[in-house]
Amino acid sequence: MRIFLNLLITIVLYGCVPAPHEDCGSRSLWGFADFPLGTAFDLRNEERNRELRTVFNTHFNSFTPENEFKFENIHPQPHQYNWFEADRIISFAQNKRVHGHTLIWHEQLPDWIFSAENHEHIMKEHIKAVVRRYSDKIKSWDVVNEALEENGNLRNSIWKQKIGKDYIYKAFKAASEADPDAELFYNDFNLALNPRKLDAVIDICTSLRKRGIDVSGIGMQMHISVSAPYPMEIKEAIDKIWRAGFKVHFSELDVSVNPLGNKTVISEDDLTDQYHTYYEVVKTYRSIPKAYQFGITLWGVGDADSWLESYFNRVDAGVLFDHSYRPKPAFCGFKKALSP
Ligand code: GLA
Repeated sequence: MRIFLNLLITIVLYGCVPAPHEDCGSRSLWGFADFPLGTAFDLRNEERNRELRTVFNTHFNSFTPENEFKFENIHPQPHQYNWFEADRIISFAQNKRVHGHTLIWHEQLPDWIFSAENHEHIMKEHIKAVVRRYSDKIKSWDVVNEALEENGNLRNSIWKQKIGKDYIYKAFKAASEADPDAELFYNDFNLALNPRKLDAVIDICTSLRKRGIDVSGIGMQMHISVSAPYPMEIKEAIDKIWRAGFKVHFSELDVSVNPLGNKTVISEDDLTDQYHTYYEVVKTYRSIPKAYQFGITLWGVGDADSWLESYFNRVDAGVLFDHSYRPKPAFCGFKKALSP
């Protein structure tokens, strides 16, 4: 029923969507986009799959490091930074925009953090060291990731426990002092599905602005599926964000075809549903004013390196290229939505 409604709303909104069987070619996807088009992966995957580099270079002009900038990797011991992997990202992605991900999060933290003292000092020093080191190349950051519960309350993370609820303000302030020109984002999941959480995010970003922090935008992670959210829900969410004066980044887009984990194979029909979902997502994104479009970032290049199968232990196929890095119908749906 939900899929049927979804399709009906799409047809009313955008007219008939062409079938996914057309030859959508292999020309550069970003060449068709009038906003930055990014993807994320771990450089170790890139080393294993040379095909990944070719597809990345051909189709994307923006890059989000999947893991290398996370606290546990870049700051594994007190006062000790591991710049090696992060430096490799910078030389690897020389001709691309690099979006920094992520400075402050409650996951992928090193063990030492849990027994440390003076977390406010640690947090500020961490942000300043990382942002300053890469300020020539990285001009946008996810400063705080996933700070909220689904009910809109602050998550009881180690940062909140040790620093108090003002840690978000303090994190953004440290980032803006470290690089006053960088674009600063708050990033979270389920923002299209959960208006209550979205309203809380917008409230936080608005109050940061009132306190003098130039928050550029909001990252909607967009780990979604073929059955939810509805296109109308995505539209309502992004309209709320840009109308509140913030740019929108679809920062971690993937579209699960097996969200309940009850399938053992992915069918042609699933991939056709996914074609439609990608088409709707991109069309919807393009409906907001250009000035508010920070870009769309896919969370993975090929299904082989997407987190969906390993993390949820299920078959899935959430991104635009298959396990052999061949374009899927989803690629065609994405591209179709980019045409004028
Ligand atoms: C969150 C994080 C990402 C990534 C995904 C799972 O969305 O923001 O960095 O870890 O979870 O892969």
